[in-house]
Amino acid sequence: MNVVVTNSYDESCAYVADMICRLVNEKPDCKLGLATGGTPVPMYKKLIEANQAGKVDFSKVRTVNLDEYCGIPATHDQSYRYFMNTNLFDHINIDKANTYVASGMGDPQANAAALEAKVREGGVADLQLLGIGNNGHIAFNEAADKLHATAHIEKLTESTIHANSRFFEKEEDVPTTAITMGMGDILAAKCVVLIATGLAKTEAIRGLVMDDVITTHNPSTMLKMHGNVYVVIDRELADAVGYKG
Ligand code: PGA
Repeated sequence: MNVVVTNSYDESCAYVADMICRLVNEKPDCKLGLATGGTPVPMYKKLIEANQAGKVDFSKVRTVNLDEYCGIPATHDQSYRYFMNTNLFDHINIDKANTYVASGMGDPQANAAALEAKVREGGVADLQLLGIGNNGHIAFNEAADKLHATAHIEKLTESTIHANSRFFEKEEDVPTTAITMGMGDILAAKCVVLIATGLAKTEAIRGLVMDDVITTHNPSTMLKMHGNVYVVIDRELADAVGYKG
């Protein structure tokens, strides 16, 4: 695992944006696995700036997102389709027909099957972007005795509902289930890049970078089985974790 320690969160975002731009320049029709949440937003701003400055062309890029809430339509301002449009797709020259965010409406099993098909369509992702939950979840694969390999419906934990309630008017409005890629889908990507910042992530990142233990109770630890992973953290978080590298 490559642990990259930067001087600041802004530098972490610049590092990851640069990786993505280099990949797109080398392989214009690459497939990106994308993530939502607060963490990647400034990174997406840097991709927008690079695209608008003519430094990167997204016209042939294909994307598949990790997850989506169940029970809210794509037009809802907290849906992940809405998030991706407003934080990235509306501002770059990507063809939205080449972007995929699972549907949270309708038949959940059919939606999970459709997401699974998209993960594999045209080959696996060249790069999968990830955030990490305070409990170590990646996508919505929550800490538990068992994890799932493929796309499925997940019941969100109280910790996740509470963490995500900052985006909703009240905690009761946060959906309690979500559709998500499984662990095998994430590990299938050719390269996995996880960004984390903030002391709320200390325990999760400690489990990921400080030893070689793999546990379903910190799903991110499964990334230790992948040969091409970048964990990008800032010095503040590295110090809190006790990471010296
Ligand atoms: P955050 O979420 O970026 O909003 O902290 C990360 C996650 O839950 O995966």
